[in-house]
Amino acid sequence: MVSVSAPGKITLFGEHAIVYGEPAIAIAINKRIRVHATKRSDDAIRVEAKDLVLAGFKALLTPNGSITLEGESGKILAALSYVKRAIEIVRERYGINVGAHITITSEMPVGAGLGTSAAVAVSVIKAYSLLAELDLNNEECAELGYHVELSVQGRASRMDSTTTAIGGALYIDPRKGKGYWAIKGVERLKGLVVGYVNREASTGEMIERVKKLRDSVPEVLDLVIKTIGEISRKAKSMIEAGMVEELGTLMNINHGLLEAIGVSTSKLSQMVYAARSAGALGSKITGAGGGGCIIALAPRREEEVIAALKAVGAAAFKAELSNDGLKIEET
Ligand code: MEV
Repeated sequence: MVSVSAPGKITLFGEHAIVYGEPAIAIAINKRIRVHATKRSDDAIRVEAKDLVLAGFKALLTPNGSITLEGESGKILAALSYVKRAIEIVRERYGINVGAHITITSEMPVGAGLGTSAAVAVSVIKAYSLLAELDLNNEECAELGYHVELSVQGRASRMDSTTTAIGGALYIDPRKGKGYWAIKGVERLKGLVVGYVNREASTGEMIERVKKLRDSVPEVLDLVIKTIGEISRKAKSMIEAGMVEELGTLMNINHGLLEAIGVSTSKLSQMVYAARSAGALGSKITGAGGGGCIIALAPRREEEVIAALKAVGAAAFKAELSNDGLKIEET
């Protein structure tokens, strides 16, 4: 039996723009995905993942070592397609065919924009590869996790898979060197609150929506995307200098630009403004949008912001930095 876990994340700045090569800032948080895996005597894969699916999922699986995931309706639910692809990728890359019973649990809402699909992908990759006696390091799991996201979503950046695998607060710049760097001084960013509602569209659909808008007015969209990248660059030095109020302002500007590229909903905007009215220094969508999550930076006003988010029908919790990325748990 092996057990691993990986954190969810919030994107402080730069979602969507990073898909076009601009930098972003993401923080691993203290809510985790856990994966337990045991070997089977045959080569089938059985997955139990009640937190990842709507009611009615029957853990499922497989004649002849192939992997099939289905809900009662026969629909493959989004999060489970990441599980399936994660196992397929390890099997394809390393030529293994070990059977496994995999159980997945989540401490956070799944598919809401907190990087849960990447956390699921890298944890399944790590757990399944350990069963096959492969010792992949966290960077290797991040890279495979990126390919899982790419193949399920059609387009993706390395942000979510890197953040969940490495942990901490990262500046991610796809155009430079190794692609990510730890940011110093993030402990000073106290008072992060996450608000969430159900998603209306998947990450893949939201990425496609931005692409269509860019195809129709590339000159305009490219400027917006570049500006979001500029915000991430500026925010990195502001975090390092402890300029918390100014960071709130940058979050508000970043949110305006996310609205401009069409990834907000009226509910998300209502949540963003409710958080500001309750005293947040800044608030914005976090993740792909189309429903899902917002974050607010609200030092000493966390309870007021949580109450304001609840008053507009959202769920909310305080988020804290986690320096632990993907890790093996004691069993
Ligand atoms: C999703 O958490 C963030 C996006 O930028 C997609 C990605 O970076 O892969 C929308």
